[in-house]
Amino acid sequence: MKFFIDSANIEEIQELAETGLVDGVTTNPSLILKSGRQIDEVIKEICALIKGPVSAEVTAMDCDTMLKEAHHLAGLAKNVTIKVPLTPDGLKACYRLSSEGIMVNVTLCFSAAQALLAGKAGATFISPFIGRLDDVGQDGMMLIEEIRQIYDNYDAIKTEILAASIRHPMHVIQSAQLGADVATIPPKVMKQLYQHPLTDAGISMFLEDWKKTGQRIGGKG
Ligand code: E4P
Repeated sequence: MKFFIDSANIEEIQELAETGLVDGVTTNPSLILKSGRQIDEVIKEICALIKGPVSAEVTAMDCDTMLKEAHHLAGLAKNVTIKVPLTPDGLKACYRLSSEGIMVNVTLCFSAAQALLAGKAGATFISPFIGRLDDVGQDGMMLIEEIRQIYDNYDAIKTEILAASIRHPMHVIQSAQLGADVATIPPKVMKQLYQHPLTDAGISMFLEDWKKTGQRIGGKG
């Protein structure tokens, strides 16, 4: 499974990139707002840090303006992926951009029908928002399962399933179990993935015992 970081904060992305576990980044207008920075600068800086796909979202609602924004954003760096909303105009733009060889991430997907349309429109990624579905009392994980089943029925659909709106480690684990290709993970959840109290307790115990040996690895003790 590929791990993307769901953030527009350069410091957070840089820190996580050093783990070697980061395959890409997703941003959205709310994350750009949170960064307090200009979108072009942020996207260029993230693209310089991360070799994989970096999603930057268009904000126009009509296809022609979406295409103009998309071409501008795609010009910022080679690994920019254009995020378009799951609307008729968004999918028209997806089809056009994909035909030009530009990577497209279709965002705000909340149903299997929408994911099927995005697959047919040639999306590189489809982003089902699992946390937001859970928030309204629906089963986000079931949507991942449905999309996996549909996409696996058709060799012609090359779209990768990008589990988005992840709220906790179990969302990552269950997405992996269901065969999502990518999870876009908020930095806080990425750090939670490492954690287990038995790991911490085990380390404390080993360190205490090691101290008692009086030894030093690589030294004379
Ligand atoms: C995905 O690309 C989105 O940026 C993101 O996952 C949305 O998550 P949220 O529902 O926590 O805002």
